[in-house]
Amino acid sequence: MDFQFEKNSLLKIGEVIKTTESLIPYIVELQETLNSQSYKKPEGFINLPFDESSFKEVASLKEKVANSHVKYILNIGMGGSNLGTEAIYNAIYGHFDLIEPERFPKIVFLDNVSPEFLTHLEFFARDRITKPQDVIINAVSKSGKTTEVLENLEIIESFLPWARERTVVVTGKNSELWDQALVNNMERLSLPDMVGGRYSVFSAVGLFPLACAGIDIYKLADGAMGITEKCVDNMPDNNIAALSASVLYKKALEGKDIHVSFFFNPELEHLGKWYSQLTAESLGKTEIKGITPIVSVGTSDLHSMLQLYMGGPKDKFTTFISSQHSKAVVKVPESLSLPGVSEQMEIKGKSAKEIIDSILEGVKKSYVNKLLPFAEISLDDISEKSLGEFMQFKMIEMVYLAKLFDVDAFNQPDVEEYKEETRELLEDL
Ligand code: PA5
Repeated sequence: MDFQFEKNSLLKIGEVIKTTESLIPYIVELQETLNSQSYKKPEGFINLPFDESSFKEVASLKEKVANSHVKYILNIGMGGSNLGTEAIYNAIYGHFDLIEPERFPKIVFLDNVSPEFLTHLEFFARDRITKPQDVIINAVSKSGKTTEVLENLEIIESFLPWARERTVVVTGKNSELWDQALVNNMERLSLPDMVGGRYSVFSAVGLFPLACAGIDIYKLADGAMGITEKCVDNMPDNNIAALSASVLYKKALEGKDIHVSFFFNPELEHLGKWYSQLTAESLGKTEIKGITPIVSVGTSDLHSMLQLYMGGPKDKFTTFISSQHSKAVVKVPESLSLPGVSEQMEIKGKSAKEIIDSILEGVKKSYVNKLLPFAEISLDDISEKSLGEFMQFKMIEMVYLAKLFDVDAFNQPDVEEYKEETRELLEDL
């Protein structure tokens, strides 16, 4: 993975380095947390990819419950208990689910409580999930008391009579759900107490459903472990996570506090959603400063959001994210079926990769022409390893950003408030 800001962020490199230097005491703390291999602090999430015992536990439960017949994993979770899993699954498999109907297992994500969806799911389950071995129900909730998760689990149990024997609960050991799962003979996995939802993708929260779906979780870990050193380096020029945080922070102070993550691989759209939550819940704590995240997908959003980005208020900073390599060899044929129009587009004989890369280059040139600032992240490819790199990099970047903005990266007081209000309203129904 490569991160570039020097050429087009329109920031003086010296100033970025100075901001990065201010993070050194915190970088040293992160190094200590890494060396401790413990979860005593919320920053302990950086140790998750290195945690062999957690990987072994996940792999052995997967062996026990996910036989070769499993077709569907019903993954129930909200926010941090869902978005990382969905990001990785969609990048590798999910984006293609509609056009690969015979590829199994598939993950169905339940991160909402839409009555319509639940009704359709019931019909679907009656029709397609005919025996226990067809399905794994994975209920993920660190607190074990998120309304949506329990509602979905209860409803699924009501229409799949043997659901209980196929349910795996991932929750905190201090939750009541942990105890109840035992009483009800459900399989259980836990996550460390100090690790918060949006930083938990490399715990059982993400690893278990992904492993069951056929994702290579050890390659994810390889990527995440490989980049960690570069993200806790106390030489400011080398620490890409601290540099990235400093760039975003300085641009936000300049008034460019809307951060557009522009993904030029449509299968990464959910990775953008994961990063949006990471930014919003980690930084959105003061009225006067912060970053508003936006996700865009190239090339679709060139025909939608780009006009606003280029012609609208100059309050945005963009990061273009793309992959260098693709295994796909599809190309426009030499012999065109519509030469009259296609020839003028100069696409004859060009590969789809060459075309999307040229479009991205065209967009970047337009940004340069208009003096619109941007950074670039180049992934090697779309694979477990590069996703592991990107996600660990972004989680560490986020804790640096929280330090710069002087906010607590790990709480979400307003989310907790709505949960409490909902419980009270439901009590009165
Ligand atoms: O990142 C977070 O901490 C939140 O988004 C939580 O993951 C989300 O609210 C779900 O909470 P829980 O896992 O306790 O059900």
